[in-house]
Amino acid sequence: MKRYFIHTFGCQMNASDSSRIGEALGRMGLSFTPTAESADLIVLNTCSIREKPEEKMLSALGRYRAVKVARGAMIAVGGCVAQQEKERILKKAPYVDVVFGPDAIGRLPELVERARRDHVRTVETAWVDSDEYVFPRADPEAARGKVTGLVTVMKGCDNVCSFCVVPHTRGREVSRPVGEVLAEVADLARVGVREVTLIGQNVNSYRGGCTFASLLRQVAREPGVERVRFTTSHPHDLSDDLVEAFRVEPKIAPHFQLPIQCGVDRLLSKMRRDYTVAEYLERLAALRRARPGIAVTTDIIVGFPGETDEEFDQTVDLTRRVRFENQYSFVFSPRPKTAAGAHEAEWGPVPHAVKVSRLDRLIEVQRAITAEILRESVGTEVEVLVEGPSRFEPTRRFGRTPENRVVNFDGDAPAGALAWVKIEHASSSALRGVQGERVSLPPIPVADPLPEGDACSA
Ligand code: SAH
Ligand code: SF4
Ligand code: F3S
Repeated sequence: MKRYFIHTFGCQMNASDSSRIGEALGRMGLSFTPTAESADLIVLNTCSIREKPEEKMLSALGRYRAVKVARGAMIAVGGCVAQQEKERILKKAPYVDVVFGPDAIGRLPELVERARRDHVRTVETAWVDSDEYVFPRADPEAARGKVTGLVTVMKGCDNVCSFCVVPHTRGREVSRPVGEVLAEVADLARVGVREVTLIGQNVNSYRGGCTFASLLRQVAREPGVERVRFTTSHPHDLSDDLVEAFRVEPKIAPHFQLPIQCGVDRLLSKMRRDYTVAEYLERLAALRRARPGIAVTTDIIVGFPGETDEEFDQTVDLTRRVRFENQYSFVFSPRPKTAAGAHEAEWGPVPHAVKVSRLDRLIEVQRAITAEILRESVGTEVEVLVEGPSRFEPTRRFGRTPENRVVNFDGDAPAGALAWVKIEHASSSALRGVQGERVSLPPIPVADPLPEGDACSA
C-alpha cells in the first residue's frame, strides 16, 4: 500500500481528526493522494449530526466500492456514524475493511495492517471514556506553509440537549491539559501559523488545569500568535471572565459563534438548553459592551417538534433584534438515541414542507442582515490576515478580518502578513478591496535553543 485518500464530512473536530488520521497513516509510510481512484486505502470520516447521514455515507461508499473492485483498495470508515452504527455498517457494507471510532485514530495503522495481513474486518469503536484519554499531538510539519491552524482543547460533551447526537458519538467531556495545548500552539507558531482556532464541542466548559478564559489569554500570549479563535461554545458557559478576556486581550479575535437554537423559551426548555432568551441576550449584551463591534454568529434549528408558526416568527424576530452576523440553520432532524428523536410524534412533528419553507424564510432574513453588515465596511480600512491567493479570483489575494469576514483584494502582501485593505465593494458573503500602504509581516518565533549540556542527552 502506498497512497491514502480521505473524504471528510462534518465539523471542525472531524477536519482536525482527518489531519490526525493522515499523520497516523503517514507514519505507516502512506502518502496522501487527492483522488479516491488513485488510492490504496480510502478513509471515510463520517458525521451523524443530522439529515440522513447513513444514506450519505452509503452513497459515498458505493462509489468507493468500484475503486476497491478495480484496484483492490481497502476501505476504512471512521467518525461519528462509525461510532454509533458500527453493526449496521458491517451489515450494509460488507466490503468495508475497517470501522473505527473517533477515539481509535491512534490505533488505525494497527487496524489497517491487521485487516490487510489477515484478510479480516477490524473494528474499534470503544472509546476511552475517562480522564486518561491521550489527545494525539499534531505534527507541526503538516502545518508548514499554512497561516491558520486548529488545536483540539477538549472532546465530547456533558450536556444533554434533547436533539443532539454528539454526547452519544463523542462521549463525555475530557479537556486536554493546558501544557499540551500551549506546546501544540507553540509548535504551530514556529512553522508560521499566525491564527489558531481552539476547537471542541463545548470549548468554554474547558477544565484542563485552568479556565477557558485563562487558556485563551495564555494562547494569545504565545509568541507568533496574532489571532486566537475558538468554536463552539454553549451560552451557559459564557462566564464573566470570558467576557473580561475579550475586553483586555486584543489578540482574541472579535468573533463569537454562540448557538441560540431558537428564540422561544418553551422550545429552549424542551431542547434542554438551560437558558432563556433573556439570559442569552443579557450575556450577549455583556460581550458587546466588552468588545464593541464583535461579530456574533449562531446556530438555529427550525421545525423542532411542536414549533408553531407564531413561535417560528419569534425566532425570526430574535434574528432581526440580535442582528447576527450570520447563522448556520438547519431543519430539525430526529436522531437516534436522542430525547427529541424519540418524542417527536408526541411533541408534534412539523411537516417537512413547513420546516423547509420556514428555513427558507429565516435564511432570507439572515442574508439581508449579513449583506447590510458587510456593506457597512465599504469605504473603511480593515485589517486582513493574508492566507494566500483568492480561490475563485486567482489574480487577487485572500484573507479574513478579525471578525472573520472574507476579503478578496488587489495587492501583493504575502501569506502570513497583516495588511490593511480599503474596502470598495461588499457582496452578500464577502468583501472586496485594495491593499493600502500598511502591511506588516510579524517575525516567526524560533525554537528556544537547548540548554547547555542537554544536546547530547536528547
Ligand atoms: N456544541 C454546540 C453545537 C454542536 S452541533 C452547541 O451546543 O451549540 C452543531 C449544530 O448542529 C447545533 O448547534 C444545532 O444547531 C445543529 N444540530 C444538532 N443536532 C441537530 C438535529 N438533530 N437536527 C438539526 N440540527 C441539529
Ligand atoms: Fe450537542 Fe452542543 Fe448540546 Fe453538546 S452542547 S449536546 S454538542 S448541541
Ligand atoms: Fe458531526 Fe460528529 Fe462533528 S456528529 S458535527 S462529526 S462531532
